[in-house]
Amino acid sequence: MITLISVNKTYTKGAHQIVASNNISCHINEGEFVAVVGKSGSGKSTLLNLLAGLDTASSGKILFDGTDISSFNANQYAAHRLHNIGIIFQSFNLIFSKTALENVMLPLIFAGYSKSERLEKAKRALEQVGLGDRMQHKANELSGGEAQRVAIARALVNDPKVLLADEPTGNLDSTTTMEILQILQTLKAKGKTIIMITHDQEIAGQVADRILTIKDGLLSE
Ligand SMILES: Nc1ncnc2c1ncn2[C@@H]1O[C@H](COP(=O)(O)OP(=O)(O)O)[C@@H](O)[C@H]1O
Ligand SMILES: [Mg+2]
Repeated sequence: MITLISVNKTYTKGAHQIVASNNISCHINEGEFVAVVGKSGSGKSTLLNLLAGLDTASSGKILFDGTDISSFNANQYAAHRLHNIGIIFQSFNLIFSKTALENVMLPLIFAGYSKSERLEKAKRALEQVGLGDRMQHKANELSGGEAQRVAIARALVNDPKVLLADEPTGNLDSTTTMEILQILQTLKAKGKTIIMITHDQEIAGQVADRILTIKDGLLSE
């Protein structure tokens, strides 16, 4: 599904070079649930941003379903994010003045669906995460766990093969964390490939098929 070959990402900060991804090579199979574990600043979000096409590698190749995305232009990255990838963030990244339903419908505008199709797909995605009864609530009226479920529905709504989650339970209490992890496991059972970033080894061990560790930009099995 995803293959990284000698991927490097360096940032320049003043006179300093920061190596955020250091010669990373790995393969992620279709349908796998992979956790990437590392401390703050180890290069987790950088790796996820490269996979999502939110940032470009300094060198190396990233193959998605056999296509090298590392040389994509901005339009190709936008299409990649729209069709192949769903992203879930620690801080939900919802539009808080809009309803749950409106938030989930939003990405489908760019996919060119009609309003009735967007409505239908968004309802189905919200039902999948158990929020069928909260669709008309504004995002700012939802609890943290509910907000993250809306964000998962938004990530799912265009039926991507891969879900990328950057510390999806980082802002949640332990009960809500379990609910979110359970939803991710259900999605894995339905065939999604999931890559979840966490600094919590215990959480990774509970849900992942495989744990990759990252330290100073170096990824190891
Ligand atoms: N846009 C950027 N510009 C400069 N340095 C960055 C940028 N993004 C990340 N970094 C640096 O790269 C390293 C890895 O960051 P990041 O991938 O965000 O780590 P993590 O998600 O594991 O906390 C850190 O040292 C961070 O300061
Ligand atoms: Mg991070």
